[in-house]
Amino acid sequence: MKILILGAGGMLGSDLASVLSEQDLIVADRPEWDITKNEELKVKIQNCQPELIINCAAFTDVEAAEEQSETVFKVNAQGSLNLARISSELNLPLMQISTDYVFDGEKGSGYNEDDKTQAISVYGRSKEQGEKNIINNCQKYYIIRTSWLFGRAVARGKKNKTNFVDKMLELSQTQKVIKAVSDQFSKPTYAKDLARSIKSNFIDNQREFGIYHLVNEGAVSWFDYAEEIFKQRKIKIKLQKISGHDFFQKARRPKYSALNNNKLPKLRPWPEALADYLKSIQIIK
Ligand SMILES: NC(=O)c1ccc[n+]([C@@H]2O[C@H](COP(=O)([O-])OP(=O)(O)OC[C@H]3O[C@@H](n4cnc5c(N)ncnc54)[C@H](OP(=O)(O)O)[C@@H]3O)[C@@H](O)[C@H]2O)c1
Repeated sequence: MKILILGAGGMLGSDLASVLSEQDLIVADRPEWDITKNEELKVKIQNCQPELIINCAAFTDVEAAEEQSETVFKVNAQGSLNLARISSELNLPLMQISTDYVFDGEKGSGYNEDDKTQAISVYGRSKEQGEKNIINNCQKYYIIRTSWLFGRAVARGKKNKTNFVDKMLELSQTQKVIKAVSDQFSKPTYAKDLARSIKSNFIDNQREFGIYHLVNEGAVSWFDYAEEIFKQRKIKIKLQKISGHDFFQKARRPKYSALNNNKLPKLRPWPEALADYLKSIQIIK
């Protein structure tokens, strides 16, 4: 299948490009492929004629987003609108990657695919608007929501991306005590597992268009997550629980935004996936 992957140099995009390497891929990222440049984007897509567009391109820095609202909405909301209209005009299916941060986290239990969204941060609202733009302007869409991704961004030499696991390992080399938030919960998800599941569910098989939740199983706090990282790496360090309110963060985050995957085969529990990721970075380093 001829597949266009946008944002292919990012964490998920690069894993998708590797997992889908046997397909006829167009591996695209900015500056050459900028989803905010509508006219240019349309011509490029018309010229390469993909059978599916996967949009991994996004402004993903949740903290920085609070101070760059205009840019964030331009990429995550307007960029998605551009893609929705182009896909609709060319009658192409569009797969949009989205996030648990489209929810406010106040439900008190996991979110289902058809639950009402209500984001509470600039990043979350921009992604929520991106979803709405796709739903309202494109008929053939898959919206895949995921959460707390970890993985490597190695495609096109883009190695500057970091994630919570890498951050914890880095901090453990310089700090004696690490504070981690114990009252925000979600499901850590390995980008490679997500990419594999996208391949098996949507490329190797056909699914109905609509909204899907794809996450590794097991809801935890950042504190529990950090504890498991250090346990698996056999690093002895003092971990201290801290409330999200007391942690200096510009963006509000949902208290409990775990996603229920009700429509697709479930991914493995996240600690198993973490073990594979930790092994893989040991080999690369
Ligand atoms: N990371 C998470 O924890 C997480 C959780 C839930 C959902 N998601 C969603 O999953 C998707 C992939 O996330 P990720 O973590 O893989 O993101 P990422 O590593 O930040 O990659 C995003 C990619 O998009 C590119 N990009 C930014 N603006 C663009 C534009 N205007 N046009 C084209 N490309 C642009 C980035 O390029 P630059 O590097 O040059 O900026 C980067 O290559 C996103 O939709 C995100 O919202 C992520």
